[in-house]
Amino acid sequence: MTTYLSTAGQYTGFDCVGFAIRWCQRTLGAKNANFRFIHSDIYNRQYNRKGRIDARQYAFPVQGGSVSFCLATSLFTHLLPGTTERYVSEVARVLRPGGRFLSTWFLLDEKTESNAAAGKAEFKFGYRFEKHAQVNIHAPEEAVAYRLDYLEDLFAGIGLVVVGVYHGGWSGTEDRIDSGQDIIVCRRV
Ligand SMILES: C[S@@+](CC[C@H](N)C(=O)[O-])C[C@H]1O[C@@H](n2cnc3c(N)ncnc32)[C@H](O)[C@@H]1O
Repeated sequence: MTTYLSTAGQYTGFDCVGFAIRWCQRTLGAKNANFRFIHSDIYNRQYNRKGRIDARQYAFPVQGGSVSFCLATSLFTHLLPGTTERYVSEVARVLRPGGRFLSTWFLLDEKTESNAAAGKAEFKFGYRFEKHAQVNIHAPEEAVAYRLDYLEDLFAGIGLVVVGVYHGGWSGTEDRIDSGQDIIVCRRV
């Protein structure tokens, strides 16, 4: 993003891991005044066990309707449904109409499920729940998968239209893009 955005654009990033944010501030923020990195002490069992903020109540640190592009790579693959639902509704809140949202997932759909059944997938989401699936029953956030139709309904209900779904390589699909995880692109209505 530092090589893409001109100084007319602004970037705000947040994460629950303090040392990672401090690294971004030191190395990227110091050279790019329009880049802001925020540490939010959000609880994640995998990444920030001592976190004091409940992700299901977290408000993204930007004004509503002020963002043209939201990017979340390998985030929702570590979030459980309560947090996922909150975060995508925060995406819908902060995006301006026409704004885009690119996010990565482990998607459960016909293609990935048939690859998994044929033993081609890198991860086995063997623990199934109402809205999601996990690889590890003891460490839920290690890797989380969602059904594509559940996400499409979730997005549609909050004003996000899915404009592209691209399969990554994790499921062993041959018809893949150059990404391990699956990618969804949405547009804010
Ligand atoms: C697998 S890493 C991906 C890091 C980076 N986005 C990338 O693509 O390389 C997952 C990241 O999500 C962050 N994370 C987990 N739960 C979070 C939450 N509820 N809010 C914000 N960040 C979270 C973790 O701290 C970690 O940095």
